Amino acid sequence: MTSAIAFKNVVKSFAKRDGGIQYVLDGVDFSIPAGKTTVIAGGSGTGKSVTLKLVLGLMQVDSGQIFIKGRDVTALRGRELEQLRAEFGVLFQGGALFDSLTVFENVALPLRERTKKSAEEIQDRVATTLAQFELTGHEEKYPAQLSGGMQKRVGLARAMQLQPSIMLFDEPTTGLDPVMSQEIYHLFARTKAEFGFTSIIVSHDIPKIFNLADQVILLHNGKMDVFGSPEEIQWSEKPYIQEFVQKTMGDIYQSHLVE
Ligand SMILES: Nc1ncnc2c1ncn2[C@@H]1O[C@H](COP(=O)(O)OP(=O)(O)O)[C@@H](O)[C@H]1O
Ligand SMILES: [Mg+2]
Repeated sequence: MTSAIAFKNVVKSFAKRDGGIQYVLDGVDFSIPAGKTTVIAGGSGTGKSVTLKLVLGLMQVDSGQIFIKGRDVTALRGRELEQLRAEFGVLFQGGALFDSLTVFENVALPLRERTKKSAEEIQDRVATTLAQFELTGHEEKYPAQLSGGMQKRVGLARAMQLQPSIMLFDEPTTGLDPVMSQEIYHLFARTKAEFGFTSIIVSHDIPKIFNLADQVILLHNGKMDVFGSPEEIQWSEKPYIQEFVQKTMGDIYQSHLVE
């Protein structure tokens, strides 16, 4: 299986206020298979967002390497890093829309900034995307005038504009009610089926999010446990994972323990 992203013995720490050191990633190895969906789960503050920032080169590792399509991101700077980032579509926590731009302008932004398309081409392309994400008719609205679900759809539409080969989603359903979350998951499944990108989804929404996962990574105390499928998690003998399964996945997943 080809890997789109591979972490090799990555260490990332932060200095603590008390003078100590917090190891957020304490020598982690994992790979993200191309064309598949990997879910990274773990408690709040365990390093999920930091992991995504390292992938994008928005933060630097202390040591170790991160390969993206065979290139070591940790060795790239400036322009090369910019070029690499263009491979990614990113939906950050909160959607990160520009409040002073309309829906149309938000979605058009990557095309204006990164391509040489004419105004007319951009108009067409954005109209197509907005239709795909069921946002037609809302072009002139500002983010504050949209529901949480719509904001996420705009964020997703924008992230998809440059047809990235890798998509990163940081807590895509946080702050949404269950119906909206379900809508986002359907949208994800549809978009993924159509474009076939590699994706990493960081999420708390367990076990629901596992329906989308090919591979699951659990982040705990600076270490990562990698599972080839959500079902595999239940077979782990690590106490912290058994506890996690019981707390978040429920009785169905414990059925093998019942005689
Ligand atoms: N720029 C930073 N400076 C210092 N500490 C940071 C920084 N970014 C993140 N951290 C710390 O790293 C840990 C992991 O953060 P993060 O990846 O955002 O967690 P989460 O898993 O909730 O996304 C947290 O304890 C956070 O306080
Ligand atoms: Mg986070």
